[in-house]
Amino acid sequence: MSAQILDGKAIAAQTRAAVKAQVAARLGAGGRAPGLAVVLVGENPASQVYVRNKRKACAEVGFHSEQHALPATTSQAELEGLIDRLNADPLIDGILVQLPLPTHLDTEAITERILPTKDVDGFHPYNLGRLALRMPLLRPCTPKGVMTMLARTGQDLAGLDAVIIGQSNIVGRPMALELLAARCTITVCHSRTRDLAGKVRGADLLVAAMGRARFVPGDWIKPGALVIDVGINRDADGTLVGDLDYGPCAERAAWITPVPGGVGPMTIACLLENTLQAAQLHGARPDGE
Ligand code: GUN
Repeated sequence: MSAQILDGKAIAAQTRAAVKAQVAARLGAGGRAPGLAVVLVGENPASQVYVRNKRKACAEVGFHSEQHALPATTSQAELEGLIDRLNADPLIDGILVQLPLPTHLDTEAITERILPTKDVDGFHPYNLGRLALRMPLLRPCTPKGVMTMLARTGQDLAGLDAVIIGQSNIVGRPMALELLAARCTITVCHSRTRDLAGKVRGADLLVAAMGRARFVPGDWIKPGALVIDVGINRDADGTLVGDLDYGPCAERAAWITPVPGGVGPMTIACLLENTLQAAQLHGARPDGE
């Protein structure tokens, strides 16, 4: 068997087109463009690439976007001051603070400082709590993108044994909440998990999100499984690879996401969706008055 490819690039393009059409309708009705502020502290090269891509995506769908690039020496008080100003800015619907932050900054405090209705990353405890309680508002972008892709398989997820490798706040944990809400039975694996291979071999649905190049071998994949690769790693010769040993995994899976062109483009598309959603939440004052 050879897996069908879940083409994140194509699905993300459709999502962006839908957002763009809704922005045009909003503007046509006299509303203002949704606004996203992206905050980058320091000079992490990967973060700089992500932020550039987010800015490009915003321009493409007609959002107002602004970038706040702060030096690595920025203090907690300075960053909190910027968040407070953006929280109060009527032209800004979404605030994204690119992670990781330099280690002297308190990430949790910054995350909680963002108004929940402007938290387009879905990382605020309010938004994660709502997801846990099956009353989602703004949902973390990568797991949301994975759910959009899984919906495209047409497969009923209810009752599937889902295994997630990785327990990060950004992907693993919210992914578990999404799949639990979809009525999967969830196993979250991490560095202290015993018999990882055995757990993965039982997975009808696997989400690999531990950030280790080509870590999951083909013989761990249950034949016919849905297999999602969230990893973005560079291998020794600089090639972009996921967390799966792709070729052998694709031999056994029913559906698989490639890297690049899988989950990555979906994350940004979902950020755009969330920013539009946040603008609609703020819609009592669509003109910013
Ligand atoms: N760093 C890696 N992924 C993300 C993300 O989805 N949002 C933010 N803010 N930072 C990240």
